[in-house]
Amino acid sequence: MAETDFAPAKINLTLHVTGRRADGYHLLDSLVVFAGVGDRVTVEPDAALSLAVTGPMAAGLSGEGDNLVLHAARAMGVTARIVLDKHLPVSSGIGGGSADAAATLRALARMAGRALPEAGAVLALGADVPVCLAGRPVRMTGIGEGLGAVPALPAAWLVLVNPRVGVSTPAVFKALARADNAPMPREVPRLRGVAELAAFVQMQRNDLEAPAMALQPVIGRVKAALSAQAGCMVARMSGSGATCFGLFADPLAASAAARAIRAAEPEWWVADAPVLQPQS
Ligand code: C5P
Repeated sequence: MAETDFAPAKINLTLHVTGRRADGYHLLDSLVVFAGVGDRVTVEPDAALSLAVTGPMAAGLSGEGDNLVLHAARAMGVTARIVLDKHLPVSSGIGGGSADAAATLRALARMAGRALPEAGAVLALGADVPVCLAGRPVRMTGIGEGLGAVPALPAAWLVLVNPRVGVSTPAVFKALARADNAPMPREVPRLRGVAELAAFVQMQRNDLEAPAMALQPVIGRVKAALSAQAGCMVARMSGSGATCFGLFADPLAASAAARAIRAAEPEWWVADAPVLQPQS
C-alpha cells in the first residue's frame, strides 16, 4: 500500500553554537519548531529502490544517488518507488533534505510494518534528521542527537523568506568566528503568548547569522524586509540560512506580510504558515 508523509520546514527559532568536537562537528543549543509548509514523500512497494522528484522546487534536485531520501531508504533496508514532491527551497536552512529523510523513514516504516532505525543510524543520515523525525517543538543539543522537551508554545505564525541563493552549511560553520558561545538559559521558560515567545527569541541568538551574512549579504535584506512588516514581532535567520523567519501573533497579518514581500521581491520564495503544535 502507498504511504504518504509530510516533511515540514524545520525552523531554528534560536541557534547557539556552544562548542566544536574533535571531528569538526559543532555542538548546538537550539529551540526548534516546525512550520505548516513542506515537502511530501510518497512510497509504494517495488522490487527496486527508485526516486522521482516533482513539485515547484524539483529543479534544484535530481533523483540521483546522493539524495538523502535514498540514504534513508537504504538505512531502512526496504525497496520502494518513492516520489518526493518538493516545495521547500534546497540548501536553505530549513532542513528540507533532513525533513524529507525523516518523512521517508516514517512512510517506509508504515509501508513495510518495520520499526524505525536506531538513533545512531538516524543521526548518521544527517545531524538534523533526529529533530525532523521528532517533528515537534524541542530543544536540540549535541550535534543534533539531544532532543529535550520544552514547555508548550503559544499558537504562532511564521513568514518564511528565502532569496533563492543556496548556502553551504559547511562553509557557514567554517566562517564562524568562534564556536564557544554561551548556551540558552538552563530552562526554556513557559512562554504564555507570542509576545513572550518573541521576547525570548529576541534575547537569544543565531550564531550562524553573522558568518552566513558575510557570505551572502542579501540575507540582511531578507531579515530587514521581514522586520519592516506590520505585526512582525521578531525576525531571524534559520539554521545556516539563507531563509529567515518572521514571527507573528495573527495569521492575517502574516499572510498580508507574505503578500507584501512577494509583491516587492517577486524572485524571492515566500511562505506563511502556522507553527505546528504537537499532536495530542
Ligand atoms: O550532518 P549534516 O550532513 O547535515 O552536516 C553538514 C555539515 O554541516 C557537516 O559536514 C558540518 O560541516 C556541518 N555541521 C556542523 N555541526 C553540526 C551540524 C552540521 O559542523 N552540528
